[in-house]
Amino acid sequence: MTKKWWMGKVAYQIWPKSFADSNGDGIGDLEGIIGKLDYLKDLGIDIIWISPVYKSPLVDQGYDISDYYDINPLFGDMDTMDRLLAEAKKRDMYIVMDLVVNHCSDEHEWFKKACADPDGEYGKYFYIAEKKDGKLPCNWRSYFGGSVWEPIPGTNKYYFHAFHKKQPDLNWENPKVREEVYKMMNWWFERGIAGFRIDAIINIKKKLPFCDYEPDRDDGMVSVVRMLEDAEGIGEFLEEMKHEIFDKYDAFTVGEVFNEKDSELREFIGENGHFSSKFDFAPEMCGKGGAWYEHETVTPEMYKNAIFDSQLRVADIGFLSNIIENHDEPRGVCRYIPEGDLSDTSKKALATVYFFLRGIPFIYQGQEIGMENCPFENIDQLDDISSKDEYKVCRDAGYSEEESMKLLRIYSRENARTPVQWSDEENAGFSTHEPWIMVNPNYKEINLAKQKDDSNSVYAFYKKMIALYKNPAYHETLTFGRFEPYQRETKNLIAYFRKGENQTLLVLANFQNEPQTVVLPEEAGNVILNNCASVDVDDDSRITLAGYQAVIIEL
Ligand code: GLC
Ligand code: CA
Repeated sequence: MTKKWWMGKVAYQIWPKSFADSNGDGIGDLEGIIGKLDYLKDLGIDIIWISPVYKSPLVDQGYDISDYYDINPLFGDMDTMDRLLAEAKKRDMYIVMDLVVNHCSDEHEWFKKACADPDGEYGKYFYIAEKKDGKLPCNWRSYFGGSVWEPIPGTNKYYFHAFHKKQPDLNWENPKVREEVYKMMNWWFERGIAGFRIDAIINIKKKLPFCDYEPDRDDGMVSVVRMLEDAEGIGEFLEEMKHEIFDKYDAFTVGEVFNEKDSELREFIGENGHFSSKFDFAPEMCGKGGAWYEHETVTPEMYKNAIFDSQLRVADIGFLSNIIENHDEPRGVCRYIPEGDLSDTSKKALATVYFFLRGIPFIYQGQEIGMENCPFENIDQLDDISSKDEYKVCRDAGYSEEESMKLLRIYSRENARTPVQWSDEENAGFSTHEPWIMVNPNYKEINLAKQKDDSNSVYAFYKKMIALYKNPAYHETLTFGRFEPYQRETKNLIAYFRKGENQTLLVLANFQNEPQTVVLPEEAGNVILNNCASVDVDDDSRITLAGYQAVIIEL
């Protein structure tokens, strides 16, 4: 395998609106990010993915871009962006932007021109159609609810949107669109970014011509996801993008790719794949199906099977990007640790398990201090369109307000979007102004200031993990070493090897409150990571792990 500059690096996701507010308007911004670069450097971060900061009406929090060449004034301006790039570079850090090109905002000039003249040049930038015999071209339901078709006022035409109606899909079949996208990407690389996280990318290829599918709900519609099964040929677009742009800049790219077929894995992230990496969403998908009320609670066994299957499936084909959460998911500690078992120790155990999987570890803002889901009490406390839609689906299905709010506190992505808890000061040290969204009331207990100098804190543990990952004595093995499950069948034990050329490391985590004794495969060597004060190994190479104890042992 050809070694690339990004292999063995540690990445961090910033969701700017809630990261750090520099000017006291209650909204995080670029200057706020600059102010935290030293913090991130000290933590051990190399690559920073910043969720969209482009000009946008923020209907979907920036995933609705009205100008790809400008910064949303709420977040700063282009000079500040350039300064952020320069300051990161000074610290040997890499900035990765979010590439949102399945759709733009309905406030983008392309779309405005398209609406003004649907049959003209810009009309072809989008999917615009008329009803036939009184029927829309297809019965697909958008990700955020309602039909994918929305009327263009003053005409008999409709445009297609896979997400919100304020996010019209760009027509990738039109070479002009692709040219515009590559031009824009090029422009950003020339400014000094190191790569892109590629948003919603599998949606750029539609199943054409549009057709109806069997409805999956009483509304007579079917989730737009259904068409992805039949949409063929996305690879041609992605190869073009790679050759035009990514290869030229030796970029780091990570795709938001769901549902790829086994046979496509190599095409996506193999040696010469479309992308450097893709997120492993298998744990995020665990237990999910249909509406919130149809989801199943994740058990440690389900979680283990999800990550292990992904690891085995990818093996040495390429690099997954491993996460426990992001801006589209609730907090990982609340999702993968059984209710009632949440503690600093269990948070560290979960961290150990995911961080040392083969791939690129990503940390989402606040994860490093163990931030938790937010006890929202009513729907008006939220801003997120997708949570509001899912909440409505629950209410429409007959769930009470209380039941629906309970589901929201478990599944809503807004849980991960509350301000980062920097300190126990007012507004959690995020801003001097009341933030745009509520602060998690637990900020007095969970905050960075409190954890910074406490060697037992979750934060200190993350720092330790990153240092271990980068320790030259283990870095090769932890980056390239083979993943192999250990005692996979043992309940509530999550254990695996990382096998390097001349080194074997064993990651062991006891995912329950009761102690658990495990026979080691061979005599234990050094314990190189431990989330508890001691380790109990007897003369017969049996290790007794305390509740939620996690260790890494060199064999
Ligand atoms: C991706 C983003 C998500 C956004 C959606 C539409 O899934 O991560 O936040 O809502 O795309 O752009
Ligand atoms: Ca601000």
